[in-house]
Amino acid sequence: MKTIISRIQHNSEDSIVYEKASQILKEGGLVAFPTETVYGLGADALDEAASAKIYSAKGRPSDNPLIVHIADTDALYDLSCQVNERALKLADKFWPGPLTMILKKSPKVPDSITGGLDTVAIRMPSHPVASRLIKESGVYIAAPSANISGKPSPTTGEHVIHDMDGRIDMIICDDASKIGVESTIVDISGQVPILLRPGFITIEQLRETLGQVEIDPAIQNGLAKGVVPRAPGMKYKHYSPNAEVTIVSGQPAQVEEKINSLVLEKKALGFKTGVLCNTEDFDKYSADLVIDLGSKTDEAGEARQLFAALRRLDQEEIDFAYSEEFTSHDVGAAVMNRLVKAAGHKIIHV
Ligand code: TXA
Ligand code: MG
Repeated sequence: MKTIISRIQHNSEDSIVYEKASQILKEGGLVAFPTETVYGLGADALDEAASAKIYSAKGRPSDNPLIVHIADTDALYDLSCQVNERALKLADKFWPGPLTMILKKSPKVPDSITGGLDTVAIRMPSHPVASRLIKESGVYIAAPSANISGKPSPTTGEHVIHDMDGRIDMIICDDASKIGVESTIVDISGQVPILLRPGFITIEQLRETLGQVEIDPAIQNGLAKGVVPRAPGMKYKHYSPNAEVTIVSGQPAQVEEKINSLVLEKKALGFKTGVLCNTEDFDKYSADLVIDLGSKTDEAGEARQLFAALRRLDQEEIDFAYSEEFTSHDVGAAVMNRLVKAAGHKIIHV
């Protein structure tokens, strides 16, 4: 398939891009587009044949449900038969923005996009391109992250082109995603709200709005091994570069010493090594590729850089990568959640 690749110009020529993308979506095709979190791979959420194409383009397991993207709060009533006070409070506070709510689905929502669950995931993105595309096409857009299943989510148009060129109808490129990790997911379909995936909106912010919010035990302590997560997608191998990633946790001096000794060991065996670290430690490491994720005090910066950093390990054909442990404050919780998964839970405590 020939993929149309369009770049948003931020001028009147953009109209052609939106017209083409809307036409493709209405005809049941696939369009990748930017959002404030990561790039999404969109299809008409109510068209089963269209969303089936998402699963095959990504190589995504069919039991892994999709998030439906909307552009106004009225759509909530169309997609869910359970729009309660909590949903309205969350919408009021965090939409448009990086928050996904899980609610009981309305009969209109096909089972094929909810993986057979009786709930649906809904998000109103704040990115102007995403918002305009939903409005102009007039469809609710089902969109997972626009990566091949199992790979790091795309935060630039180039990442999407790398994974999806030739597999989908159109890719709309804009600047790099401002947030860089996927939306926070909160399940408000039951008695007590439950955080299913950490993101830019923190658990503290959710508690300020909703009162009690539990954390899915599967994601506590950076995703406990062996506990089945409530968001089906959180159980799969994820964010994995080809390199074997290991996190080294402990006091800074010991972490530095351990990482450098592991790097030396692997280099001696002829392997290519990489390190992920904060700016403050950038000069301390002797790996073939050292990637700076920004300052220790800037969790948002780490979030923006993480997926691009994991993808760079592949570009540079790194065999073994070692990462410092980053702080779990604020969006740092989301960064560590993704990093632990990228590392397949390999953490060395020193
Ligand atoms: O920021 C984001 O949310 C991005 C952008 C494109 O909006 N999208 C995204 O989609 O991250 P995806 O498909 O990569 O992740 C969706 C997650 C999966 O872990 C899935 O299992 C979970 O949401 N999910 C979807 N519907 C669900 C439901 N009804 N119940 C529980 N989890 C659900
Ligand atoms: Mg994803």
